[in-house]
Parts: sequence; structure tokens; C-alpha cells
Amino acid sequence: MTHPHQRLLIIDFGSQVTQLIARRLRELNVYCEIHPYQKVTDAFLKGFAPRAVILSGGPDSVTREGSPRAPESLWTAGVPILGICDGQQTKMTQLRGRVESGHGTAEFGRAFVTPSDEKLAILDGWFDDGREQVWMSHGDHVSQIAPGFRVYGTSPNAPFAITADPERDFYAVQFHPEVHHTPKGARLYENFIRLAGFTGDWTMASYKDDAIARIRAQVGDKKVICGLSGGVDSSVAAVLIHEAIGDNLTCVFVDHGLLRKNEAAEVVAMFRDNYNIPLIHADESDLFLGALEGVSDPEVKRKTIGKLFIDVFQNYANQIEGAEFLAQGTLYPDVIESVSFSGGPSVTIKSHHNVGGLPEKMGLKLVEPLRELFKDEVRALGRELGLPPSFIGRHPFPGPGLAIRCPGEITREKLAILREADAVYIDQIRKHGLYDEIWQAFVAILPVRTVGVMGDGRTYDFACALRAVTSVDGMTADYYPFTHDFLGETATRIINEVKGINRVTYDITSKPPGTIEWE
Ligand code: XMP
Repeated sequence: MTHPHQRLLIIDFGSQVTQLIARRLRELNVYCEIHPYQKVTDAFLKGFAPRAVILSGGPDSVTREGSPRAPESLWTAGVPILGICDGQQTKMTQLRGRVESGHGTAEFGRAFVTPSDEKLAILDGWFDDGREQVWMSHGDHVSQIAPGFRVYGTSPNAPFAITADPERDFYAVQFHPEVHHTPKGARLYENFIRLAGFTGDWTMASYKDDAIARIRAQVGDKKVICGLSGGVDSSVAAVLIHEAIGDNLTCVFVDHGLLRKNEAAEVVAMFRDNYNIPLIHADESDLFLGALEGVSDPEVKRKTIGKLFIDVFQNYANQIEGAEFLAQGTLYPDVIESVSFSGGPSVTIKSHHNVGGLPEKMGLKLVEPLRELFKDEVRALGRELGLPPSFIGRHPFPGPGLAIRCPGEITREKLAILREADAVYIDQIRKHGLYDEIWQAFVAILPVRTVGVMGDGRTYDFACALRAVTSVDGMTADYYPFTHDFLGETATRIINEVKGINRVTYDITSKPPGTIEWE
């Protein structure tokens, strides 16, 4: 099988930071994939045909019997190999060096590496000041390097911090070059991939063309349906698929009546007017809001919306004759088969709403053209496809929409107030040039009325909470440190401009212990 890009394989031994290796390489326009070590057999390796291989770190000890190994054929594949941390130790063990664990061998956090006298190509640009800061995180250490290897860098606790057998293009480092605390780490990766002959052929323009070709090959002249949420991922997927197969794509946008102000109109206008993509705008707000009447439990809200969404989507999809494929905006972080050493069930904090389960139920095949991309790459692809920048940079919006920003019972009155307050808040954030610094910002309307005084009159209206967080992936978050001036000005505007709110608070809870949404 021929592959459209030069490929690098990352064999994952379960490190927490394996995804960061992929990020660093993608930034260098190198196409790479992460696969768990259990899957990387000799046959897999042959089929993948990597130009270079990186062995990630991992939590297991190579000194343990039955601990993870790379396939034997890797060592004779004739491609450059870089072992990181535990990957270094795996390599040393397999190539007949020795690794020891035990008291005094662990090293965590910042360390400084000094060079040996010999030069090494992957260290080009290193050691200008005589030493480099690196980030260590290892329990075991290499006690004897494998035959053919020499030492190129040492740290106080890692005499074999950098070793290599340059004749075979085998490199091994005890630290993590992919983390920001190893400031010259990106340079090391750059040197490694240059040495492996990568030409940086992974660009968004080339990716777009390949993706279009792949969609055409997969779908042929069959029909595809795509559930649009108005978010970046499903929108980019839809525009890409439309470029590939034109009007054989139909999008279904289910308006559950829980969208922000003007959202439905904006999404529909963008797809119909700018792209001319066949779009069913399913206004099902009565159905959803009716089903939510009297519901105040967050999980019941989520489950009600999730179930109805699937039913409604299915109804509309059934009207599209001959549809054989369902498009989804699944991203790479969702599909990486991570290596789990801990196992065990995890607790459900919230039932997330998505269209999972639909394909099986409907007997449709999946088209997932973003499966290989990280979020920022999806944005880059969106730009390549000409989506408006304001659309691409939009904050994430949850599937259950405003329902989970309206603790307690949902009423049309509360939703209308919430929409207005949210619009003023976002307008304030944009006016102050803060929108792109913030991961997500929104208003939650609280299920309490409070007493106020406006003019000469008494008010008895709703209180609301403003939320704004910074985050990299939504998994952890911190509140955004607005100035008091900004908060004061925004509160005044909301109370003056939004009828029904007479008190504004700012939520300064981080995640954990809070979550980003209120429910
Ligand atoms: P939480 O509230 O769990 O949210 O800290 C983390 C991120 O996920 C979004 N979110 C959802 N997105 N369906 C989605 O598509 C959902 O059911 C859902 N619930 C939360 C939330 O907006 C934040 O970005």
C-alpha cells in the first residue's frame, strides 16, 4: 500500500505525554500516528512503512518480566529510532544493555544535561551555554548501555542521559524532549526528523486534497448525511465532504430550542448562503422544550435531550433516500487507543451528549474525515476551506446547549433572559479583545430571584453568574482573571440592558473541583 505522506510511527508505552510527541512532530509538518505497543507487531510495522520510529515513555518497569517490548523486526528495519525515557530503557534492554530499578535511581522534574566531547547530529543547536535544561520523569535507569552505543550527554542522576549508536541511527534519551520544560526539545525532534529525511510534506493544503480524494474513494456516488451542531468540528467536516462529493451530502441541523441568540440563523445562513450545502433546518424546539418541562435534574435533562436528539435526527435522516453514510467530526484525541495500565471503571461525571450509537442503530457506515487531526489542525483546515475566522475561533458549545446553563427548571422565559444576558457578555468580551484568550465564556441563569432597586422602584428578578475559563482541552480549567473594571462594566450593562436580571455574580471556581458548565 502506498501512503500519501512520509510517515513516522510513535509506539506508545503509555506515557501521559505521548500525545505531545505527536504535537511537536505535526508542528514540523511531519505526519505521525500513535499506536499502542500491543498492536505494533512485525506485520503491522511492515504495513505502516515508517520512515522513522519513536518509542514513547511509559509507566511500566522494563525490569519487570512480561513488560512491554517493541517488535524484534524494528531493530533491523533500517530506519532511525528514537527512544524516550522508558522507550530508551526498552531499547537498551532489547539491544542487550542493562536497566536497573531500585533505591536512588528515580529522578523527577528539572535536571541539567552536559555534553560529552563527541558531536551528535540530533543535538545540533544544543549546549551553546555548556548545558541544557531537560525534564526527567523516571524510576529506573540504564546501568549499562547496549553494544554499539556511546554516551553524548549526562545529568547528575542519569549518566546515560543521551546515548546513541549513530551508525545504526539509534538514539535514546532519558528525559522528555516533548514537554515545554525541555526548552530545546523541539530542536531535538527537528534534528531527528531532518536526519530521517522528512521533507515536511504534511501541510494543510496537501492534507485537504488527500482528504477529499479519500472521501471520494470511500463514498463513491453514495449519499452522506451529516449532523451539524454549529460547532467547528462538524462544520469543517461538512464543508470538506461537500467539496468532495457536492450535493450528495445533506446536513441536518437540529435546533432543540436551546441555542444561543441568533445561533440557528447564523449557522443556517452560513451553510445555505456561503456554501450552498443542502441543509435541513429541523426546528424542533417545541418538542424538546415540551419534554423538558418540569425537569430539573441535570442527568435527566441530558438524557432526555440526548435521546430525543437521536430520534429526531433519525427521522430526518430517513427522509434522505439512499443515504449510506453518516459523517461525524471525530478528532484524533478521541480515537487514539491509549494504553491503560490502571484499568478499572471511571466514574460518570456527566452523560455527554453526542450522536454516538447512531450509526449502528441506523445501519450507516461512518465517514470521519477529521480522525487524524488535533483541534488546532481542524481550525487550520477550516481556514484552508475558507470558513470565516470568527466562526473557526468560536468557543465550544455543549450539545445540550442552554439547558445545562439554566439550573433548575427550564422555561422559555428564563431561556430568553439567558440569551440576552449571554449576548451582552460575549459582546463585552469581544469589545475588550479577550475572546481568543478565553477557552469558553457564558452566562448561567440562576434559579433564584433577588430583590433590587432600580430608579425608584423595587425589582424582584433573576440573578445570573458569568463564567469564563482558560483551558487547553476542557479537562482542567481555571477561571479567567478579568479586571474589576471589566466585571463592573459588564454587570452594569447586563442589568441595564437585560430585562429580568437584577444581580450579576462572577464564578471563580476552577475545574476540578468544579466543572466548566454548571450542570
Ligand atoms: P465540563 O462541564 O464537563 O465541560 O467541565 C467540559 C467541556 O465539555 C463541554 N461539554 C459538552 N460538550 N456535549 C458536548 O458536546 C456535552 O454533553 C457536553 N457537556 C459539557 C463543555 O462545554 C466544556 O467545553
